[in-house]
Amino acid sequence: MAKQILYALFLVLLSTTDLTTASSAAAAGTSKRAINFIQASCKATTYPTICISSLSGYANSIQTSPRRLAETALTVTVTQAQSTKVFVSRLARFKGLKKREVQAIKDCIEEVNDTVDRLTKSIHEVKMCGSAKGHDQFWFHMSNAQTWTSAALTNANTCSDGFSRRIMDGRIKNSVRARIANLSRGTSNALALINAFAQKY
Ligand SMILES: *[C@@H]1O[C@H](CO)[C@@H](O)[C@H](O)[C@H]1NC(C)=O
Ligand SMILES: *[C@@H]1O[C@H](CO)[C@@H](O)[C@H](O)[C@H]1NC(C)=O
Repeated sequence: MAKQILYALFLVLLSTTDLTTASSAAAAGTSKRAINFIQASCKATTYPTICISSLSGYANSIQTSPRRLAETALTVTVTQAQSTKVFVSRLARFKGLKKREVQAIKDCIEEVNDTVDRLTKSIHEVKMCGSAKGHDQFWFHMSNAQTWTSAALTNANTCSDGFSRRIMDGRIKNSVRARIANLSRGTSNALALINAFAQKY
């Protein structure tokens, strides 16, 4: 009796291991396809290395969907914009800032805030592209997404210019400009992926 139970247990164990192996092999297969898709799509962006490294971690949710790829690129970028906003906001607390420096920081916070807002609007539009009924609806939302993303890119660059002209402290200037440059690259990549999604429609 005990022997029979053990044998049954052994069989159960054997079949569950089989199942696990089979499903993880399937998952590995899909994610390999997704990774290939991300790499191929990122080649068409201006900063392919950043594109691949920031998006590969989302392969499972992106799969091979150009829409989800564009949406994920925007989501990653909006998170980056939010942390840039926090970073610049902290600079405003520095003691001994000159008046023009305080103003440059204030302007930059507003510009990065606008970037967050515009990228968020763009995410919404890309989502709407996915549920669009027909050609006209798709292109309406697509054109909005392209417009908001281009506007977000302009905003980020304006902050960088303001810092170059008005902030004298090299360290502050360089740390903000490095983050903004990174944010611009992410936004530029997201725009390229939105355009690639449009071309596949
Ligand atoms: C940031 O943007 C939101 C939405 O556009 C606005 O309500 C808020 O006042 C802005 N904050 C700053 C600091 O500009
Ligand atoms: C630059 O952006 C990427 C995402 O595109 C992020 O992973 C990385 O941490 C950023 N680097 C800096 C210095 O902000």
